[in-house]
Amino acid sequence: MKMLVIGSGGREHAMVKALQRSPLVTKVWCAPGNAGIAQDAECVPIRADDLNGLLRFVREQSVTLTVVGPEQPLVLGIVDLFRVQGLAIFGPTRSAALLEGSKAFAKAFMARYGIPTAKFGSFGKNDAMAAESFIRSMQPPMVVKADGLAAGKGVVICQTRDDALEAVRSMLSGEAFGAAGERVVVEEFLTGEELSVFVVTDGERSVMLAPAQDHKRIFDNDRGKNTGGMGAYAPAPLGTPELLERVQREVVEPTLRGMRSEGSSYTGCLYVGLMVTPNGPSVLEYNCRFGDPETQVVLPLIASDVAELFVRASSGQLQPEEVRLAKATAVCVVMASGGYPDHHETGKEIMGLQFLDGREDVVAYHAGTKVTDGKVVTAGGRVLGITAVGGADDLAGTIRAAYEAVRKVKFEGAHYRGDIGSKGVR
Ligand code: AMP
Ligand code: GLY
Repeated sequence: MKMLVIGSGGREHAMVKALQRSPLVTKVWCAPGNAGIAQDAECVPIRADDLNGLLRFVREQSVTLTVVGPEQPLVLGIVDLFRVQGLAIFGPTRSAALLEGSKAFAKAFMARYGIPTAKFGSFGKNDAMAAESFIRSMQPPMVVKADGLAAGKGVVICQTRDDALEAVRSMLSGEAFGAAGERVVVEEFLTGEELSVFVVTDGERSVMLAPAQDHKRIFDNDRGKNTGGMGAYAPAPLGTPELLERVQREVVEPTLRGMRSEGSSYTGCLYVGLMVTPNGPSVLEYNCRFGDPETQVVLPLIASDVAELFVRASSGQLQPEEVRLAKATAVCVVMASGGYPDHHETGKEIMGLQFLDGREDVVAYHAGTKVTDGKVVTAGGRVLGITAVGGADDLAGTIRAAYEAVRKVKFEGAHYRGDIGSKGVR
């Protein structure tokens, strides 16, 4: 089988590596990829949002399956485009991707099917008055979210009603996030611990992968600004069998059933972002794709064939009982450029990667790197996701192995958190 992975981050590097493990796979391309991905796949310079360019490439090369990493091409309708042409692709259609593409849609959908989520109101450009009275009726803190895609930045936690009023104003005016903010969701602030659950589905049947925890803040103990994710580990003990069973029954099944009944059968990976509250799991958000950096810990824990899983999910032939999860733990520590998520310099030479070459237990997934004058240099905010896999009952040991590897890799200004996975040990 010949596979094309779309995207250029650590998530896509993990996808490429997982597909390469399959004996069924003869060739993997990545569009556009990065310097690390280029060691495991052939990178082709086509952007993730160049749907026609991707379509042309897949036709020319007779690609067996296209696997979409990021949300943008999904929300743009790449799956619809490919399916019309009879091409196999892993991901949801445009209308199914609305679960991520529109937070107002997702919240209304959850309300229609009784899926647990924070109490909310949803308001358009002409509903400023209604938004204000809703905010006055709510107890702070509360959360204001831009409806559309805002590169993970469209969520504002507001400590006072005035902050919420200002957040709504700046979004509805288009000032804050352009068209993505012309509709907003205002919701109750939930407390608890967050959990990322990934479900691979063919629309009908589904299989849940190892529950993971992301670390979104830049500094240890969840302090400082929000980032794209500074590390992850799996399986997270928070995701007990009882909790996951509840998530399956109260969230996953009604979501897939609801999407089917609305004529938007959901295929691909459904990412359920949960707050585990004292009253049980509550959905913070859906994403229509795998998470980053969670993928870097979730895919290595699939013991069965990942290529076959994606092909089956894409063709309505998922066999959940054939999917086996490894009895192991995985920890990914993200090394970022100094200053990230704000201004940061790039082009710094990365040293020490050779110490990790050929190791089975540790992998350096590349997120933002490129090759300049024969040297691997930094090329983004998040640079590497150093990932260790270890024993099932030894998360602490796996954390140690990840950090030991991190310390071998050096670049000027490198920043990483020192507490990835520690919530899972406590
Ligand atoms: P989202 O993009 O909707 O997942 O929001 C990004 C982050 O904001 C989440 O991972 C949470 O940390 C936080 N968040 C979102 N909604 C809520 C909420 N209702 N209560 C508390 N925190 C939230
Ligand atoms: N890890 C968060 C995300 O992928 O959206």
